[in-house]
Amino acid sequence: MSCPHCDGTGWRAHERDGVRRVERCDCWQHTHASKRLSDARVPPRYARCDLENFVIYQNERLVSVVARARRFAEAFPAVSKGLCLIGPPGIGKTHIAVAVLRRVVIEQGARGLFYDVRDLLRVIRSTYNPVVRTAEMDILRPVMDAELLVLDDLGAEKPSEWVEETVNLIVNTRYNERRPTIFTTNYEDLPDEAELDSLKVRVGFRLHSRLHEMCEFLEYDGGDYRMLPANGGPDDLATLWKQHKGRRPLPARAHRPARAEMRDQGAAKEPRDPRELKWPGGKAGR
Ligand SMILES: Nc1ncnc2c1ncn2[C@@H]1O[C@H](COP(=O)(O)OP(=O)(O)O)[C@@H](O)[C@H]1O
Ligand SMILES: [Mg+2]
Ligand SMILES: [Zn+2]
Repeated sequence: MSCPHCDGTGWRAHERDGVRRVERCDCWQHTHASKRLSDARVPPRYARCDLENFVIYQNERLVSVVARARRFAEAFPAVSKGLCLIGPPGIGKTHIAVAVLRRVVIEQGARGLFYDVRDLLRVIRSTYNPVVRTAEMDILRPVMDAELLVLDDLGAEKPSEWVEETVNLIVNTRYNERRPTIFTTNYEDLPDEAELDSLKVRVGFRLHSRLHEMCEFLEYDGGDYRMLPANGGPDDLATLWKQHKGRRPLPARAHRPARAEMRDQGAAKEPRDPRELKWPGGKAGR
């Protein structure tokens, strides 16, 4: 028997804030949501993240970031820019990114995909093994084609020319095809060119300027949720935030400039230039 709400089409009209939209019907959601969610590769730790269970407290920036994320999810796929969530660890950047991703996957039926940048690079690297020779495009194609991609923890990977080229290839392809991406990063967007912990130095100037073209930057600070006692609430988070304000160290890393790390990397250990990747249909990297 076909669904009484949508006559079996899987779509139904819906009115929100006086605007008529077409939405996936619940019957369709139930059939397809779990499959699409597992395809999105959200890590189990974040499997229940949504914007409704995200605790907000007296923190103007955080409140506005959550509101912005909600508008993005509601407008999707009619969004012209992605988001770049910036701030210290533990303030819920990944939570918010996943919440948006899950929502568009569940409600819009979007093909969404989550990748921690380091995991993604590790997987791509492994496909360069000359013995295994799995097609690298098996990995890259879904990343480039996902209707919404979350790239988590940008800049956490050890910088190298290959890393830069590979991330640029992915991001530029998505940019050219107008596919939105949500990035998260611990590295602040500092104007000082000499600041080694700035986003620009960590990811390279080309990607940095591309990010500005394709994303809205949402920088915020807050209490580290992981320090919150089990019975803690919004007030405790606010207190945690006040205690740590202005002295939140970034995650420990080599006390050496990113660029020096990069120079020291043996070029021979890196796979070949990602631009040489062969694309299905014989096209070279775009
Ligand atoms: N405001 C919040 N409300 C509810 N859970 C939160 C909040 N902030 C962080 N968390 C939870 O704390 C953990 C760490 O948050 P995460 O999103 O990984 O932080 P970040 O990506 O900024 O380092 C996650 O399990 C997340 O769901
Ligand atoms: Mg995170
Ligand atoms: Zn239906």
